[in-house]
Amino acid sequence: MEPLLLIPGPTPVPPAVREALAQPLIGHRGPAFVELYRRVTRRLKPLFGTEQEVLIFPGSGTGAMEAAVVNLFSPGDRVIVLVAGAFGERFAAIAEAFGLAVDRLEAPWGQVVPPERLRERLLTYPPGEVRGVFITHNETSTGALSPLEELVRVARQESGALVVVDSVSGLGGTPVAMDRLGIDCVVTASQKCLMSPPGLALLALSPSAWQATERARLPRSYWDVQEARRFGEQGETPYTPAVSLWFALDRALDLIEAEGLEQVYARHRRMGAMVRAGGRALGLEVLAPEAHASPTVTCLLLPEGLDAGAVRRALRARGVEVAGGQGALKSRAIRIAHMGAIQPEHLLQGLLALGEVLRDQGLAVSPEEAVAAAEAAQAE
Ligand SMILES: Cc1ncc(COP(=O)(O)O)c(C=O)c1O
Repeated sequence: MEPLLLIPGPTPVPPAVREALAQPLIGHRGPAFVELYRRVTRRLKPLFGTEQEVLIFPGSGTGAMEAAVVNLFSPGDRVIVLVAGAFGERFAAIAEAFGLAVDRLEAPWGQVVPPERLRERLLTYPPGEVRGVFITHNETSTGALSPLEELVRVARQESGALVVVDSVSGLGGTPVAMDRLGIDCVVTASQKCLMSPPGLALLALSPSAWQATERARLPRSYWDVQEARRFGEQGETPYTPAVSLWFALDRALDLIEAEGLEQVYARHRRMGAMVRAGGRALGLEVLAPEAHASPTVTCLLLPEGLDAGAVRRALRARGVEVAGGQGALKSRAIRIAHMGAIQPEHLLQGLLALGEVLRDQGLAVSPEEAVAAAEAAQAE
């Protein structure tokens, strides 16, 4: 039996998408690929909320983050990176590795950086000094969704900085509205809400970001967006694209369009509410406050004395795969994904199994009550 994959990436790939992967390959310098290129990139625009071109590189989400850094900035540029979890920290580390002057604006894991703190921090710098503000839209390590609209508004009001958003675990599961909010660069990857296998790194740039690519002096080659755009105008990529993954993403976009983007977002919100309700019914604490709870992934804290590794192993034995905590939460938390092709019924199955595992570990909990609580949340 296929395991029930409830980890926050890679997420389950629907059968139709798996079939698409098995298609015979096509030449990437011929008309069939040009058509595929144009169809896929055009259909991604509503997910990014942009009229700008979407670029696709072979690579993981971390590669797209690196692409944002090397294409937009120069050595020594001052950037503020919002850090409230492992992926905010990763963005800061990448920027540092490339010699940017990184100011980490931190919040405790599980929380989000309040927009007012970003304002205060920006105002400590002379006008024009801060060149970039990096925001993790959906912090996968904690299950917290940043108040993107407010953060972007503050960044734009108080600075001329480029706003760079990591929406690796948000885009496709929750709205991004890049153009409307005035975000300069959005990066994401294929293996989460986009229901495809890992291997595609995606990004889009605003007109100001494109201008910045003219000035940016960090070395770039593989991730050169100007080169990618030049080729993209012809419906091609500068070097061999991961053609099979393009087939997969094309099919996944069919599924997203058939469900309807608003319905997809609503399903994600509903699934988040289900997991939080089911988790709480099992006596587990949801790490993120309700106001910032992620629609795509939930981090549940286990009671003292329970080890996340043991819980995960017991779940695995029942065919359910969840993630552990990250960083200091490694053995204290589990993370359950509710994104992409995951459906409410999978979460009911996962919560039932989790309840049984916790009961086996000696907790006085009712798996059936957890399922009932999740069903009630689903119906709301
Ligand atoms: C928010 C976020 N950013 C970046 C990444 C890195 O993506 P990848 O593992 O594809 O490099 C992840 C992966 O989990 C993520 O969740």
